[in-house]
Amino acid sequence: MTQKTTRIGLIGYGQIGAVVHQMIEADPHSGMEVVFIHDTLPARLDSLPQHLALRDLGDFASRKPDLVVEMAHPDVTRQWGAAILEQTNYMFISVTALADQGMEEKLLEITHRCGTRVYIPHGGVVGMDALRENREVWEEVHVVMKKNPKNVDCARAGVDPDSITKETVLYDGPTRGICPIFPRNVNTHASIAYAGIGFDRTHSIMIVNPAWDQATVSIHAKGPGVDLRVERVESITGVTGASTPASIFNSVQMIGSTGPGIHLR
Ligand SMILES: NC(=O)c1ccc[n+]([C@@H]2O[C@H](COP(=O)([O-])OP(=O)(O)OC[C@H]3O[C@@H](n4cnc5c(N)ncnc54)[C@H](O)[C@@H]3O)[C@@H](O)[C@H]2O)c1
Repeated sequence: MTQKTTRIGLIGYGQIGAVVHQMIEADPHSGMEVVFIHDTLPARLDSLPQHLALRDLGDFASRKPDLVVEMAHPDVTRQWGAAILEQTNYMFISVTALADQGMEEKLLEITHRCGTRVYIPHGGVVGMDALRENREVWEEVHVVMKKNPKNVDCARAGVDPDSITKETVLYDGPTRGICPIFPRNVNTHASIAYAGIGFDRTHSIMIVNPAWDQATVSIHAKGPGVDLRVERVESITGVTGASTPASIFNSVQMIGSTGPGIHLR
């Protein structure tokens, strides 16, 4: 039985993008083919086979991708999300872009008009399936993130991470509000909000402490007769937890793989 190969374009070749690329290439029977890689840092593209390097993202459609995967920054969705969705399917992992309601509505409208799809991977969220499947049930959803301040991009918050010397609450409020302040750090909050009860009803807390060397994400969802608690503690490099690159690859292959084998869903 011959299956169509899924042509995949990658945007962002940092920690996550490079691992996802390697994992796709590692299995020649996956039914997936990387057809371009784009990054704004020319040095990242110089290290690649040149037929894959796409220096001008405006040329993405010439590679005829079936799926474009953003692993760079929420600005990519703001700048390119509409153009990509007019042509093909789009997965974005910088989910904080969705906290902008106008953006969410615009992307939805294009998918309906053009027959394309947006995919949001579970990424750093353990239990996104349970949150989504019971979204009508939850009365409250709380997310608590704990990190070392050096693993938080505080540029938009106007906070100097080096000035924080003790445990400090950087944010306590609705998820809608934390996303524009820490756009590179709270994708898990955004995914939890979108899967569950929305950006305005989900409650986000961000706490930093220079004594912590691991990142913790705790999720607590409550509804009548059900209480869901998930907590993961893991090492972190830059803004990305250790488990995220493999998680993103898993979501890419759940969508794109057409190869043989036993597939978990
Ligand atoms: N959904 C999740 O659970 C989750 C988890 C961790 C990280 N993330 C997000 O994933 C993204 C990538 O994380 P990472 O750890 O690989 O980061 P990274 O800094 O290691 O790599 C990002 C790469 O994207 C490139 N880039 C930045 N802005 C760009 C743009 N506008 N256009 C094209 N390329 C651009 C950079 O040059 C860099 O090579 C970040 O936005 C991060 O916030 C999401």
